Amino acid sequence: MNTLLDTGLAVRGLRKSYGGREVLKGVDLTVAPGELVALLGANGSGKSTALRCVVGLAEADAGEIRVAGTSLRGLSGAELTRARRAAAMVFQQIHLVRRRSALDNVCAGGIAGLPLSRSLSPVLFPRELREHAMACLDRVGLADRAHDRAGSLSGGQQQRVAVARALCQGARVLLADEPVSALDPAAATQVMALLAELAHEDGLAVAVVLHQPELARLHADRLIGLIDGEIRLSTPAALLSEEDIAALYRGERG
Ligand SMILES: Nc1ncnc2c1ncn2[C@@H]1O[C@H](COP(=O)(O)OP(=O)(O)O)[C@@H](O)[C@H]1O
Ligand SMILES: [Mg+2]
Repeated sequence: MNTLLDTGLAVRGLRKSYGGREVLKGVDLTVAPGELVALLGANGSGKSTALRCVVGLAEADAGEIRVAGTSLRGLSGAELTRARRAAAMVFQQIHLVRRRSALDNVCAGGIAGLPLSRSLSPVLFPRELREHAMACLDRVGLADRAHDRAGSLSGGQQQRVAVARALCQGARVLLADEPVSALDPAAATQVMALLAELAHEDGLAVAVVLHQPELARLHADRLIGLIDGEIRLSTPAALLSEEDIAALYRGERG
């Protein structure tokens, strides 16, 4: 067995139904440390649901999820929370507290790692957490904006703050659901380049839902295509063909 699959993200046989309709029909997905995988597929094909199951925003009906070497199967309570913290998700809709500083927002990612007594007041994040958060902001190229209100930053900068928050959480698996869909092309390229760096230089396992096959080709190592809750394409990014793209989006459903 490939030992790489024991780290990063490994999903096996993921199934999920909503209202009697199966929207994930046994999805297998692996993302190795150091790899950027792009998830493509028409609206409604199940991309978000798959990622949401990994971080616990949706509950899978069946299947196994391993995050950074730990299977989530059979875990509950604090153990499950701890195992899940190795994965973090960033969204198209950026969830930052706009009136607080970029640094405070990043610190929030690290809070659960602290004893409760030390995390009660977000004004008084402990020094070691603030230093770690600052290093995470530096990693995304925003150390100089640490004390600016998050709401005053551009969309691309806010998305990078959201990535820094995931890093501050200690995530080894980074999931991004259409992280660049709301950004202009220059900011989108910058965010994609950052995600690729985090995979290739820092060794994170990164999975990104994209609606732009061109960006996927440019930045991803491997592409996974979902059609109607099933993986129907898995290819090195360089080999993605126009026919592949046409097939993925042919059966578009709302
Ligand atoms: N919370 C939910 N309740 C009911 N149906 C849902 C829910 N979330 C997603 N779905 C349905 O599951 C299918 C897959 O959705 P989703 O994973 O969001 O697709 P994608 O991200 O590929 O566009 C869609 O048909 C969607 O309507
Ligand atoms: Mg989606």
